[in-house]
Amino acid sequence: MLRSALLNVMIAAARKAARSLKRDFGEVEHLQVSVKGPGNFVTAADHRAEQILRAELSKARPGYGFLGEEGGRVEGPDKTHTWIVDPLDGTSNFLHGIPQFAISIGLEREGTIVAGVVHNPANDDLFVAERGIGAFLNDQRLRVAGRQRLAEAVVACGLPHYGKGDLTLAGKELAAVQPKVAGLRRFGAAALDLAWIAAGRFDVYWERDLQPWDMAAGLLLVREAGGYVTDLDGGDAMLTKGHIIAGNETMHRELLGILKAAGKT
Ligand code: IPD
Ligand code: CA
Ligand code: CA
Repeated sequence: MLRSALLNVMIAAARKAARSLKRDFGEVEHLQVSVKGPGNFVTAADHRAEQILRAELSKARPGYGFLGEEGGRVEGPDKTHTWIVDPLDGTSNFLHGIPQFAISIGLEREGTIVAGVVHNPANDDLFVAERGIGAFLNDQRLRVAGRQRLAEAVVACGLPHYGKGDLTLAGKELAAVQPKVAGLRRFGAAALDLAWIAAGRFDVYWERDLQPWDMAAGLLLVREAGGYVTDLDGGDAMLTKGHIIAGNETMHRELLGILKAAGKT
């Protein structure tokens, strides 16, 4: 695959931050046994990774704005471009030594995501997409799964947890979805959930209470792999509303119908 200069910049930044995260992930495994646990250490790892990403991306594209989970929004002189970055998506997994976490970098141009990179340093999976060019995993072109029946679908989701989300609504949604599908998964890294939809590993995915940096890169991966992505009202406001559903056209439509009905009960 011939990569654009833009993707090369994003990949180089992701790989540099990945080296730092991978070293820290190795340490986390030792810290599990300490009474205090690796909490503070992981926070530091997260900040280190964001600093690397910000430094690398702004070196290559000095004028662009930057929206990062840790440092918030920094405006640049170029108002048309913003990097949307999660330096460590899947923090709880990382903290617990579970190798399902990622660096996520999206580039927004005039309100549209035009490039995305999601990289899992633990297994070296590198998902990239550019608008109109396609989505790739380690240079292999991606295509969303073709399954047409929810009864055969493996469905990914997010779940409310301590201090976050609407448990009652989640309960209704799960009760409606569970009996209709082949399997439900909650893997804990939204950027990878979306990347795995693009790769056809999951058939359909929905989640609420997300942030733009959880979704920016992943939603482009799905679209460039031929999938459908909307918010849970069926519109295009995922990044502002913070909810998302993604899959092939049929899976997307069917699951969205079930979720809408469940919300009304
Ligand atoms: C979290 C992960 C998780 C999702 C949470 C996010 P973080 O991001 O994407 O899968 O369910 O809502 O906050 O905190 O690990 O970067
Ligand atoms: Ca995240
Ligand atoms: Ca994060």
